[in-house]
Order: sequence, then C-alpha cells, then structure tokens
Amino acid sequence: KSLVVAPCAALFLLLSPVITQAAEPIVIKFAHVVGDDTPKGKGALLFQKLVRERLAGQVEVEVYPNSTLVGDADEMQALLDNKVQMLAPSLSKFIEYSPKLEVFDLPFLFDDEAAVARFQKRETSRELLRSMADRGIYGLAYWNNGLKQLSANQPLRNPADAAGLAFRIQPSPVLEAQFAAVDAKAVRLPFSEVSKAMQSGTVQGTEGPWSNIRGQSGSSQQSYVTETNHGVLNYMLVTNSRFWTSIPFAVRSELDGILLEVTQTVNAEAASINEREREQLLASGGTTLVTLTPEQRQAWRAKMQPVWKSFEAQIGSDILRAALTVNR
Ligand code: LMR
Repeated sequence: KSLVVAPCAALFLLLSPVITQAAEPIVIKFAHVVGDDTPKGKGALLFQKLVRERLAGQVEVEVYPNSTLVGDADEMQALLDNKVQMLAPSLSKFIEYSPKLEVFDLPFLFDDEAAVARFQKRETSRELLRSMADRGIYGLAYWNNGLKQLSANQPLRNPADAAGLAFRIQPSPVLEAQFAAVDAKAVRLPFSEVSKAMQSGTVQGTEGPWSNIRGQSGSSQQSYVTETNHGVLNYMLVTNSRFWTSIPFAVRSELDGILLEVTQTVNAEAASINEREREQLLASGGTTLVTLTPEQRQAWRAKMQPVWKSFEAQIGSDILRAALTVNR
C-alpha cells in the first residue's frame, strides 16, 4: 500500500509549489514622480485599469505617484533591484545608462511635438529603447509629455534676462550647458524638491512642460512663464529586463498589447492635457504669460544651439542627423 501512497505524495509535493505560484498574481509596482492628472500619471492609471480588466488574478499593477515610493534619485536603482518593476523617467534621467539619449535634451532641436513623435517612431529611436538592455533596463515605449517652457520669478524676454539666475534642472549635462549658454546657473534637483527650492530662493527659475510647471509649483507658483518651446520632456517607459522576461509568454503578450494601447492614448492626449494645464495656470491669476516675438525666440535659439556641437561626439553624429531629418 505504502508503495502506492509514496509516489502520490511525491507528486503532490512536486506540484504544490507550482499550484501556489500560479495562484499568486504577478505584482508590477509602477512608481513615478508627478501627479495622477498628468500625461504620465494618467497613463499609469490606464495601464492599471486595463490590466485589472484583462489579466485579473494574473497581474496586479500598483501605482505610486508623486515620489511616494521612490524619487528621481533612487528610482533607477530600485528598478535594478526589482523593488519596483516599472518606471517612466524623463529621457533626461538616463544619461548615466545611455548618453546617446541626450539627443532629446538638445535645445531647439525639434521644430514641434509632431517632429519629436516622428523621431520616436524611427529606427534610431527604437534602437535607443534597447540601448540599456545590457545594464538590465528594458525600454518598452516612449510616452509623451510635451515641449518645455521657462518659468521664473521675473519676466524672461531676451537671453540676457536669464543671466545670473539659478534654474532647477534634471540631472543632464546638456541642460547644464543649455543654461550656461545664457550665463545662468543650473542646479540639479529631484522633481519633488522643486517647490521647496523655489520657495526658499535656492532657484529662481525652472523649465518644464505646462503640466509639470503647474504640478510642481504647490504654494510657490512662479510669477512668469515664457513660452519658449525650447526643448522636449518626454519619457521612456522602462522595466527590469530580468523581471520582464520572467513573465510567462502568454501574459507578457497580453501586457504588450495593453501597453501599446496605453501608449497610443498617452501620446494622443498629452498635448491637450498640457493645453488644459496652461489655461488653468494662467487663469489662476498668479502667473503672467510672456510671449516671445520671432526675433526674441531666435535670440534664445542662437545662444543655445552651440550646445549641439559640444555633445555631438557623445551622442553620435548619425543620431543627431537622424533627429534633424524629422523637422519639415
Ligand atoms: C522633472 O524632473 O522635471 C520631470 O522629469 C518630472 C516628470 O517625471 O515629468
């Protein structure tokens, strides 16, 4: 009799961990540093919603906005340590892992958002998504936010108006050089510290798309925003390579499909979200819009464009050329 029981028990023991594992949903912690009501925040929540609808019991997405789980400074390490499984840092935050991505930071490189969108679809950009795979970071998609504006506690009309002011920047040498080109100082700070730094006077200005300028201000709204559209702030949705490939193929395919849908929605809606944030910020009365004449904008461009040359070797002339071909 025992001869019959023993193989059964062995079989049960062999199968039980598998059964337990299958019952546990895969958890994807998606952390980011901005609010729920931004292009990225909305994208993360839509991803969570579609996963809940289509992969219930198999995958669970937990969204942590506003640096509540990890912030700019520690998020990439947290991804590598598999403490979070999904991030969408701005393209300026990957420099340490893929210097070629600095192409997106070059001032006045892209004529408009449509040009950036075209570049993101090109082979060059698709290759950049894979450029950190050997470091364990797997690029899934580009998510748009929008073109950057300059905000300050005084009106900035000509490049000389920025001289001597300190601007908060993301950790990017290109952005440092961009402000040095107009004799301004650049202070690297995590997004969560911008409001405090503006309030205490550590910085007198910032740059960002409208949704971030509004979101970061808190009680320290900047008095002036100059509509420069001088650069782009978009994101790369990334995951931990090992985590991603450990997901069973069928589930991963479903996730890929969901991500495609979410990416299309984020990228279709980012511009209108920024337009709404622009209107609301200006309607609040605390911020005055500075509109540049074509000559004034050209003066900013002339000062900042030499930055391209300084970073061409690091980025690669081929990548720079590919980016320039998307302007029409
Ligand atoms: C910033 O630090 O200004 C942005 O990268 C924040 C964000 O995620 O949009």
